[in-house]
Amino acid sequence: TERRKIIGGNWKMNLNRKDSIALAEKLADETDTQSLDLCIYPALLYLDRVGGVLAEAGSSIKLGAQNFYAKSNGSFTGEISLAMLRDIDCKTVLVGHSERRHKLGESDVLVNQKLRAALDAGFDATLCIGETLEQREADQTNAVNTAQLCYGLAGVNSHQLRQVTIAYEPVWAIGTGESATPEDAASAHAAIRRYVEFAYGKEAAAAIRIQYGGSVKPDNAADFFAQTDIDGALVGGASLEAEDFLRIIRLAK
Ligand code: G3H
Repeated sequence: TERRKIIGGNWKMNLNRKDSIALAEKLADETDTQSLDLCIYPALLYLDRVGGVLAEAGSSIKLGAQNFYAKSNGSFTGEISLAMLRDIDCKTVLVGHSERRHKLGESDVLVNQKLRAALDAGFDATLCIGETLEQREADQTNAVNTAQLCYGLAGVNSHQLRQVTIAYEPVWAIGTGESATPEDAASAHAAIRRYVEFAYGKEAAAAIRIQYGGSVKPDNAADFFAQTDIDGALVGGASLEAEDFLRIIRLAK
């Protein structure tokens, strides 16, 4: 199976309104998404405005949400729903990012609730998984990834799995400048694909896309993209600068 590459730019809690608009305008102008899928995840506060920029430019860059709550509406102070996201033409979300798991206390149960809510609402979702340094040093990488997949995907059927992308992001490689080696990443990706085959069968395993994330830069992106089981990247820091992000995108084609 020829899998189309998928690149995400996760802006996290960075960029003000003006800079978010400027970056979106530049990306919309200079990217051609004919041969890959491209998604940006601005701060939620500016999502509507950035979506407007993409729409005005006729861009096929997808607008993604870094976060949302799994309930459809109600008394959940400070949260936003999937219906609100759909209302502003946002149709793809991140779930299970390590910063939400480890800094904001999201459990496997909540990750699974959010993923299922997103898929039920027809959204595409990127399920992020990955081990901490301590877990890697204890040789637990594949066990942790498998457990996070098993909990995360609980109750997701093979039809819904088509809406899912997996992002493998070793926690120790995020924002540290210390990426995994392409070989280590490839071996984790291969194990992830084996798990998907075990749980959903050969066809699903061959079709699902697995992004690598963790200090992807223009200088190392090509080495990741050259690995058979690496289908793209989820980029944090290097997605905040148009030139860097555009270089990474070009390398993915
Ligand atoms: O979602 C993106 C990842 O957490 C990677 O972040 O490229 O800054 O290491 P980074």
